[in-house]
Amino acid sequence: MERRSWAEPYKIKMVEPIKMLSREERERAIVEAGYNTFLLRSDDVYIDLLTDSGTSAMSDYQWAGLMLGDEAYAGSRSFYHLVDAVKDVYGYPELVPTHQGRGAEHILSQILIKPGDIVPGNMYFTTTRFHQEYAGGTFVDVIVDEAHEPASRFPFKGNVDMAKLRALVDEYGSERIPYISVETNVNMAGGQPISMANLREVYEYCHANDIYVMLDATRALENAYFIQRREPGYEDKTIREILFEICSYSDGATVSSKKDNLVNIGGFLALRDPELAKRARALLVAFEGLHTYGGMSGRDMEALARGIREMVATDDHVAARVGQVEYLGNLIDKAGVPIVQPIGGHGIFLDAKSILPHIPQDEFPAQALTAALYVDSGVRGMERGIVSAGRDPETGEHHYPKLELVRLAIPRRVYTQAHMDVVAESVVHLYEHKDEIGGLEFTYEPEELRFFQARFKPIG
Ligand code: F0G
Repeated sequence: MERRSWAEPYKIKMVEPIKMLSREERERAIVEAGYNTFLLRSDDVYIDLLTDSGTSAMSDYQWAGLMLGDEAYAGSRSFYHLVDAVKDVYGYPELVPTHQGRGAEHILSQILIKPGDIVPGNMYFTTTRFHQEYAGGTFVDVIVDEAHEPASRFPFKGNVDMAKLRALVDEYGSERIPYISVETNVNMAGGQPISMANLREVYEYCHANDIYVMLDATRALENAYFIQRREPGYEDKTIREILFEICSYSDGATVSSKKDNLVNIGGFLALRDPELAKRARALLVAFEGLHTYGGMSGRDMEALARGIREMVATDDHVAARVGQVEYLGNLIDKAGVPIVQPIGGHGIFLDAKSILPHIPQDEFPAQALTAALYVDSGVRGMERGIVSAGRDPETGEHHYPKLELVRLAIPRRVYTQAHMDVVAESVVHLYEHKDEIGGLEFTYEPEELRFFQARFKPIG
């Protein structure tokens, strides 16, 4: 059969120059940054795959929206555009706008979690778990075991293990479990989807037991794409229909709009129950802003409302977005470098434990590989392993996650295939010279969310 390539469903109207420092300059920069890519200056980075969060390119239509934003303190027109977009695309009637995802997590945790409560979730996310613990809850991981196995090709590694969830409810009783936090396209598992069938089962079970289902719908669009590609019965549905159905199996959602929604800042908590929304708004005015802006400017809300509609306007957008991730993943995979399989929605996750078996986990192999990648090519990735997992608040010991990964997260609509080629070549080069990479130790370890600001030095 004749092979036809696909291409991005957009053309480029404006460019931002980037440059690569010399190797000596990069070596100096990583020492100054304490071997932590969060502490590098972006001017010192060539291809920035630190995160896909807030790094997307907006469309001309979104930029035009910035000029039309209504900056009224109360009752902004742009707020109502956002309310309508969330209702139409996600289906939630109550919108509580926040400055970004963690603002929504904070409010949700505060209104639902009491000290001593248990909050099950399909793998932790850093800020989500922080807010659950900050509200006095304990997070318990109920994701399927396959999610912790980088090489497993299970198509829905984001699924909740129903046996684990039932056991938890039997042990603690539903009175101590206010909600289950269900993340779509699970970030820490490698951008892995939950199936519609599993989500429906979770929802039915939780409703029978008086437990809310709260989605982290930050990457629900990318999850919808995998359902369309992999789940029987969904191949002929549109992304828009699938996304709407995902949300129908939940009582609400927190969303960081810095991902799927194609804006640089923003987020929201969306709910079905007006009473819960009332409680959320009461806290919102203290922590974020008035209930009709919550931490965003009018123009932010206008660009966000447009981004939400744009992401589902055609199926081509998400197909090209995940297609670019798959392009990079296939180049790295073909060279034999161990990565999380199947290739996820928002980035490639290098399996640092397999790549660097000579570095014990408490010498931070993923942190070391991330730093080495920067020195080799100016490509900035992010550690997603033991440093990100932090310490158990009770014992003070490191959490030892099974996944010790380097994430190369791809901003939406920002880089080209040629950039992806450069990244792949550098990863393959490092893999061929992996014995030259050694472990790290802390020189500074913050108490909370330590990965953001920790500093390291090479051991020995
Ligand atoms: N939930 C998920 C699944 C996320 O990936 C993030 C952020 C948040 C919540 C918090 O949202 O940053 O807007 O406050 N993830 C970024 C990342 C930081 O790089 O993966 P936020």
